[in-house]
Amino acid sequence: MTNDQRQTPYLDALLRYRARGFTAFHTPGHKLGKGAPAGLVEAVGLDLLKVDLAVAGAVEDTRESTGLVAAAEQIAAEAWGAERCFFLVNGSTSGVQSLVVSLAGPGVPIIVPRNSHKSMLAGLIFSGAMPCYIEPVIDPEWGVPRNITTDAAATAIATCGGARAFFVTSPTYNGFGADLPALAGLAHGAGIPFIVDQAWGPHFRFCSLLPVDAMTAGADAAVTSVHKLISGLTQSSVLMANAARINLRRLAGVVKMTQSTSPQALIYASIDAARMQMATDGERLWTRAVELAEWARAAVNRIDGLRCLGDECLERPGIASFDPTRLTITACALGHTGWELETVLRDDYGIAVEAADTLNIVLNVTHGDDRSDVERLVASLEDYAARYRDAGGDVGAGCRRFTAQLPAFTRQETSPQDAFFSPSVQLPLAQCSGRISAEIVTPYPPGIPVLGPGELISPEIVDYLTEAGDRGLHVHGPEDLTLRTLRVVE
Ligand SMILES: Cc1ncc(COP(=O)(O)O)c(C=O)c1O
Repeated sequence: MTNDQRQTPYLDALLRYRARGFTAFHTPGHKLGKGAPAGLVEAVGLDLLKVDLAVAGAVEDTRESTGLVAAAEQIAAEAWGAERCFFLVNGSTSGVQSLVVSLAGPGVPIIVPRNSHKSMLAGLIFSGAMPCYIEPVIDPEWGVPRNITTDAAATAIATCGGARAFFVTSPTYNGFGADLPALAGLAHGAGIPFIVDQAWGPHFRFCSLLPVDAMTAGADAAVTSVHKLISGLTQSSVLMANAARINLRRLAGVVKMTQSTSPQALIYASIDAARMQMATDGERLWTRAVELAEWARAAVNRIDGLRCLGDECLERPGIASFDPTRLTITACALGHTGWELETVLRDDYGIAVEAADTLNIVLNVTHGDDRSDVERLVASLEDYAARYRDAGGDVGAGCRRFTAQLPAFTRQETSPQDAFFSPSVQLPLAQCSGRISAEIVTPYPPGIPVLGPGELISPEIVDYLTEAGDRGLHVHGPEDLTLRTLRVVE
C-alpha cells in the first residue's frame, strides 16, 4: 500500500478542533454542548458534544476545502481495494441508491436479485430503472434465502436485454456469499458493471479466514456498512468504485444528492478510525472473532433443542462462501419461535440479539467480543434450553414454521417508479388479484419482497399474503401492516 494505514487524518483534525477550544458561531445550536439539555449531556457526555460538528466548515480551515475528506477517503479506497471511496453518512442504504440512480435512468433494465435490501427498491423508484429479477432459493431447513446461483445469473444476463448493470447482495444477512468471481466474469463478459451490496462484509478484506471481498473478486463498485460489523458509528458506510466501467464523476455527484448537506463529522472520523483499525490489525482481530464464533457455534450445537447454522451450508447451491461470525440459531425443537427466544434472552439473561423472526435469531460476533461474552451467551442458552425441556418443553415438536411456498414472481407490468407515482387505491386484499401493486410487501421470514410496485398480483400472492396476515408475520413496506388491505394502481 502506498498510504500509511496508521494515519487517521480526519479523526486527527476533529481532535485538533476540540483541543483549540473555539468559541463557536456555527451549527449545531447547542454550541459544543454549552446549551445542551442536561439529559443529553448525561447520555453522550460533553466531550462528544464538543466534536458534534458538520463535515463542511469547522473541522477544515475553509468552507470550500475538501482536502481533508479527500485524503481520508483515498486512504480508505486503498484499504478496501478500490480506486475511489466515498464516505457515507446515510448508511449503505444511500450507497445502493446512489449506484442505481447513477447507472440506470427511467426504463433502463438492471439485473437485481429478489433478496436485495429495500434500499434497492427505493433506488428503483428514485431512478425509474426496470428490474430484471433473479430469484434466490429459500433454504428449506432454515427458512432464509440462499444466495443466487451462477446458473440463475447467467440466465438473467442472457434474457434481460439491454441491462446496464448487474447487482448482487453478498453476503446475505445470514452470511451466505455468492460466487463473486464467477458472477463478475459473467457481468464483464456481457460488458456491464458488476456491483455488490456488501453491507454485511466490511471486515472481509482484512482477514484471510473470511470470504473473499467484493473488490478483490472483481466488482466495479461495492457498498459496505462500516457501522454494521466494524467500529464505525451507526449510519457510517463506504462506497468503493473503480473507473473502468463506472463514471466516477457522475457517481460523485449522485452520492452528494443522497447525503445530508451537513454530514456528521464524527461519522467521518469513525470511518477513518475503523479503517485504520482494520487495515493495521484486522487479521488478528477477526481471527479471534472467528475462533470465538466457531467455539460458540459448536457449543450451541451440543445443546439439546438448539441448533446453529454452520459451514455445512456450503454444500448447498447458491452458497459459495460463509461468514462464520454470523450466528443463526433456532429453538424450533423446543417449540419456540425466534421472537420467543429473543424475548427470553433479553428479559431473563440480558442478552440483546441482532434480529429475530418466526424461525431464528441472528447474532453478530465481532472483534468487539471477548471470551466472556460468548461464554455468557452459551451459558444462557444452556440454561434456557434446560428450563424449557424440564418444564415439558416440546423437544422434537418441530418448528411452527411458516411453510407456505413463496408465490412465484409474476410480471413487472410497469416500472416501480411509474407504479409508485400512479394514482392508487387501497383495496381489501381478497380483491387484489389481477391488479398492479403500488407498494412493497416483504414478510419476514424470509425477508424477500412478495410484491414490489408495478408487479401483477396473482391469486397465489393473495393466498400467501392472507396466510401471512393470519399468522401475524412481521411485514415491511405496505401502509397496512396487518395485510388486510393493499394499495394497488387505480
Ligand atoms: C443487504 C443490505 N444492504 C443494505 C443495507 C442498508 O444498510 P444501512 O443500514 O447501512 O443503511 C442493509 C441493512 O440491513 C442490508 O442488509
